[in-house]
Amino acid sequence: MSESSVTDRLFHESAAEDSLHAAERLSEDAWQRLTRSPERFRVLTGERPTGPLHLGHYFGSLQRRVEVQSQGVETWLLLADYQALTDRTGSASLGESIRDIVLDYLAVGLDVRSERGLAFCHSQVPELNQLMLPFLSLVSVSEIDRNPTVKSEIENLGAGNVTGMMFNYPVHQAADILFCHGNLVPGGRDQLPHVEITRKIARRFNKTYSPKKRYFQEPVLLFGEAPLLLGTDGKKMGKSARNAVYIRDDESTTAAVLKKAVTDSDPAITYDPVGRPTVANLLLLASLAAGTTPQAVADEIGAGGSARLKAYVTEAVNEHFRPIRALRRELAEDPTVVRSVLERGNELARQAARKTLAEVHELMHLGNF
Ligand code: TRP
Repeated sequence: MSESSVTDRLFHESAAEDSLHAAERLSEDAWQRLTRSPERFRVLTGERPTGPLHLGHYFGSLQRRVEVQSQGVETWLLLADYQALTDRTGSASLGESIRDIVLDYLAVGLDVRSERGLAFCHSQVPELNQLMLPFLSLVSVSEIDRNPTVKSEIENLGAGNVTGMMFNYPVHQAADILFCHGNLVPGGRDQLPHVEITRKIARRFNKTYSPKKRYFQEPVLLFGEAPLLLGTDGKKMGKSARNAVYIRDDESTTAAVLKKAVTDSDPAITYDPVGRPTVANLLLLASLAAGTTPQAVADEIGAGGSARLKAYVTEAVNEHFRPIRALRRELAEDPTVVRSVLERGNELARQAARKTLAEVHELMHLGNF
């Protein structure tokens, strides 16, 4: 390796560190301000509808969204059906995933049925998608190419499988956030490059087309201590066949999935995230569900071994989710519930998107003839 490439790499890493620190400060500041004046914020976040939500989603992000909403921040949740097409072809299962996720939202206490919040789909809000065109004109191909999240996704897929949709999805995501003037994006670190591109687009749009009066606000990524839960096979949760417990699962499915969890051969249970990652992961899950610490669970089980640990996790998870699952079953019985959530959310999102696109056109002097 030549000297200059090492320098480049070191330089790049320290720049990434800087931006992480800066983002953490912004997030910290936003937490403080949102508690004082929640009415000045609007959350926009969401997910690709690729299946029902699992416990990693729940403990990693849904709980924080509920907390932010309960502070009084209006919450817009996006079922990113177009974005789901970035890494797959075929869309026949999107509808089922969307229904599942809306039920998951309602069951965990995210209010998407009142002035406190709504849920909508990409595909039903054409003016949101159209905003992507002016936004694409504000970023360079090499800026997208440097986006570490896109980079790692491209690495996983192989360049030949990367569609234009996949490559450009951070810009699409900027449209998702800015169309409704969302200024708070709760999410994990992997979303940081996307929020940074969004901030850049907002800044450049203002500078180019609205220099006297800031039109778009720069959104902030709201970090939280999101514990990283692995699947029961020690790999990324939800990526391999049945390595995750879903919110919608019943108690016996939960028990069956957790029973198959990989552990190690050490008969006594200790909490050692580095040396014993699979055991530590079960301890973490148990502690999150039971509202205690992994160390406390380990101390309680000790010589009881992995059979006792699995029984403990299963009980803690089933107990935690009992009321959530009961509510979910009840809501799922009435097919009009999901439909009315989405009809309302899509309509409100569409009104916001129409207004923003019209204002953007005006600022850009488009349609001036
Ligand atoms: N990229 C997010 C995911 O994969 C989903 C998403 C789409 C999103 N648009 C967004 C998240 C806007 C936050 C803001 O889960």
